[in-house]
Amino acid sequence: MAKIGVMDSGCGGLSVLRELLRVLPEEQYVYFSDNAHCPYGEKSREFIIGRCRDIVDAFLAEGGQAVVIACNTATAAAIATLRAEYPRIPFVGMEPAVKPAVGGTRSGTIGVLATNSTLHSAKYIETRDRYAQGVRVVEHVGEGFVELVESLDLNSENTRTVVERSLRPLLEQGADNIVLGCTHYPFLVPVMQEIAGSDVRFIDPAPAAARQLSRVLDAYGMSTGEGPGSVELKSSGPVDSVRRLYESLREV
Ligand code: DGL
Repeated sequence: MAKIGVMDSGCGGLSVLRELLRVLPEEQYVYFSDNAHCPYGEKSREFIIGRCRDIVDAFLAEGGQAVVIACNTATAAAIATLRAEYPRIPFVGMEPAVKPAVGGTRSGTIGVLATNSTLHSAKYIETRDRYAQGVRVVEHVGEGFVELVESLDLNSENTRTVVERSLRPLLEQGADNIVLGCTHYPFLVPVMQEIAGSDVRFIDPAPAAARQLSRVLDAYGMSTGEGPGSVELKSSGPVDSVRRLYESLREV
């Protein structure tokens, strides 16, 4: 059984933890929500690197063996620095799912919803330019999405109004495959699907991250496939909303 740290600016990384538990249920997870500093989306790269360093140090002090950066914004800003500074620790980050979106589009236009910071990051731009050849890519910040998820407002009239404001421009430009480039956004898929209709596909990168963690644990000889598995929830602020969202995932 490996001890794995999973971090995000808030509750969003629970959409990744949900997949990790599906694919690798026997591991020991410590989930850290940095909700005292959420959202990361408008923060500087230096600030995000500093927060990631502190959180990784705390994971390692508790015996963490591998780290999942369950946050697209933090992955884009910090994962290269973390890999250089902690060469013995395997890190898994979030890749915006541009490649599967390009593979699935019939309209020739894909959409990307992400934070401002991710959309302007070198890592995202490089991924987009590598995979989206010959396809139009339309991008939008999910304005207010992180705040909706942090306040567990996942299915109200207000949710619909806020979500529609950022989603509608992508739909109007013909996007039929939409990349969820922020780990908070998968919690809003039921509302997004209602607005977009069933012909539009939303792509959550969490399953790919879970498969990558599985490969990494194998490569490092860390996965024994034994153990009852466990989850510990921690946060830099109130842990309440993290716990409530986590409990509601377990009921699904
Ligand atoms: N969940 C995050 C992401 O994947 C961070 C959102 C934020 O804190 O702005 O980008």
